[in-house]
Amino acid sequence: MKIGIIGAGNIGGNAAKLFAEAGHEVAIANSRGPETLTELVDEIGGNAKAVTVAEAIDFGEMVFVSIPFGKYKELPADKFDGKIVIDSNNYYPERDGQFEEIDDGKITSSELLAKHLSGASIVKAFNTIWFEHLKTQGNKNLPIEKRRVIFVSGDDSGAKKKVSELIEEIGFGAFDTGNLSEGGKTQATTSAIYNRDLTVAEVDGVLYSSY
Ligand SMILES: NC(=O)c1ccc[n+]([C@@H]2O[C@H](COP(=O)([O-])OP(=O)(O)OC[C@H]3O[C@@H](n4cnc5c(N)ncnc54)[C@H](OP(=O)(O)O)[C@@H]3O)[C@@H](O)[C@H]2O)c1
Repeated sequence: MKIGIIGAGNIGGNAAKLFAEAGHEVAIANSRGPETLTELVDEIGGNAKAVTVAEAIDFGEMVFVSIPFGKYKELPADKFDGKIVIDSNNYYPERDGQFEEIDDGKITSSELLAKHLSGASIVKAFNTIWFEHLKTQGNKNLPIEKRRVIFVSGDDSGAKKKVSELIEEIGFGAFDTGNLSEGGKTQATTSAIYNRDLTVAEVDGVLYSSY
């Protein structure tokens, strides 16, 4: 599959490596331009190229967005129609500025992204795992239940299924937390599962004990 990556930092850069290792083609963009990504794409090798944001969107059947959440309106909304977007972004007010509607529980950061990219199917995923764990904890030899979990939420079940398959291909196990409203809250930085080193089998206990 062709995957566009927007944001080439701790999460985007490491996700790009894992996707390329799994045999996917990745086109990677950041805010400063492709010429600043030479080292990263050289390190990843043949399955990777450095591109502009617009080119990454055009390239990808899926587009992995991994930027500071507060910058989401900089994404060119009109180019995303028909795309599956993986949203790894987190809302940190101290970094992103205050979003009162999120603070009040009226909306999740992923729903705001979905409103902006209204022609795309948003799947929130990869946002609760620390990048060092993303780098090291995937293990395709384990049965799914024993793998490190990566949570997914979204309003489009077909898109969630595709993202879950991608998660399994890189050695993790997917766990569905629901739609972008409920799942977005379950996966928020303030939740019981945020940055918790859990296997798929351990999730139920933690979620049930916190509600
Ligand atoms: N760090 C973690 O362990 C972790 C874990 C889960 C989720 N997250 C979340 O995932 C997101 C990315 O985190 P990170 O740690 O990978 O951040 P990071 O290392 O600071 O990287 C951010 C990337 O976003 C790019 N970027 C910023 N604004 C952009 C724009 N308007 N268009 C295109 N690219 C843009 C930056 O490009 P330039 O460098 O060219 O500006 C950089 O490549 C954040 O929302 C974070 O909260 C982080």
